[in-house]
Amino acid sequence: MRDFHNDEAFDMRPTALAQVSFLADPAGQESEPFVTDVVAGLAASPKRLPPKYFYDSAGSDLFERITALPEYYPTRCELRTLKEHAADIAAIIPSGAALIEFGSGSSRKTRTLLGAARKLAAYVPVDISVEFLDRQVANLQREYPAMVILPVAADFSESFDLPEAVSVLPRAGFFPGSTIGNLEPQEAAAFLRQAGRILGAGAVFVIGVDLIKDEKILYDAYNDAEGVTAQFNRNLLVRMNRELGANFDLASFEHQAFYNRAQHRIEMHLSSRKRQWVQVCGTNVEFRAGETIHTENSYKYAIETFQQLACSAGWTPLAAWTDSDNYFSVHVLTL
Ligand SMILES: C[S@@+](CC[C@H](N)C(=O)[O-])C[C@H]1O[C@@H](n2cnc3c(N)ncnc32)[C@H](O)[C@@H]1O
Repeated sequence: MRDFHNDEAFDMRPTALAQVSFLADPAGQESEPFVTDVVAGLAASPKRLPPKYFYDSAGSDLFERITALPEYYPTRCELRTLKEHAADIAAIIPSGAALIEFGSGSSRKTRTLLGAARKLAAYVPVDISVEFLDRQVANLQREYPAMVILPVAADFSESFDLPEAVSVLPRAGFFPGSTIGNLEPQEAAAFLRQAGRILGAGAVFVIGVDLIKDEKILYDAYNDAEGVTAQFNRNLLVRMNRELGANFDLASFEHQAFYNRAQHRIEMHLSSRKRQWVQVCGTNVEFRAGETIHTENSYKYAIETFQQLACSAGWTPLAAWTDSDNYFSVHVLTL
């Protein structure tokens, strides 16, 4: 196995982030899938938009602010659990492996693994938020100068290629933040199957999954007193105004987040305060007073339910750890 850490002649670091072609290009042109999804989502009944569009650069910054809020327990609980079990996780990641992270964001939680799993050959953060990914990789490379970091700007719900250099390495997957909870359960199973194809037989996969719990704790986590989650939700309107030439009046849409007990999920919506028409992509879209755009689901699981889902997608559960409050779980799966 080559020692990529010390092999200066074998520099795998990319010079550009190329794979996401649909975000606004330098000439400010519209991005195709965003247009298609917005047109279809606002024509649907009820209106809905995929949560992946929250994450432009401003949306990613807002999400980072959310993770520091007193009401937002997931980040604290998951970090605590990862720190507690960092040595266990490091022990099951093969020496010389590439760590592939789906939806890497600030890579804050990854640092607990990078410190423990010293024999990693490469770290591959995959994220849709191109400019934010670029910034985070620069920070991480300064902190870990010897680490080979190979960012991939891609939508993980579509098929995408890993960097060529990783194809010869054993792979471990990391998917923290309960981002999997933003997918419908059948989408989550499809994602797990696709991740299995990307990571390969014998891979381990570490996944953070939020747990079903007291509804007040769940409600507060998505209705913070400072209103940062509301700003994050409305950022979708800001983004449509800027990138698609829409004319949403931000003040006339209200942030709503509530727990849907039957479906075990938090739902986030933007609710129209009045009857109004909005110009989006050359179309006049009507909103009734109180009509909403459903912007995000965040599914909450029981440990066993998530393990069953993973099994249905071909994975075998190896371990599941929780924090001391039983708020959040970290699963280790193998293929
Ligand atoms: C809930 S945040 C979690 C961030 C980080 N992993 C953490 O645990 O704090 C979701 C992350 O996934 C990224 N993301 C969301 N949907 C994505 C998609 N379809 N493809 C790639 N990245 C996506 C977002 O840009 C964001 O960084």
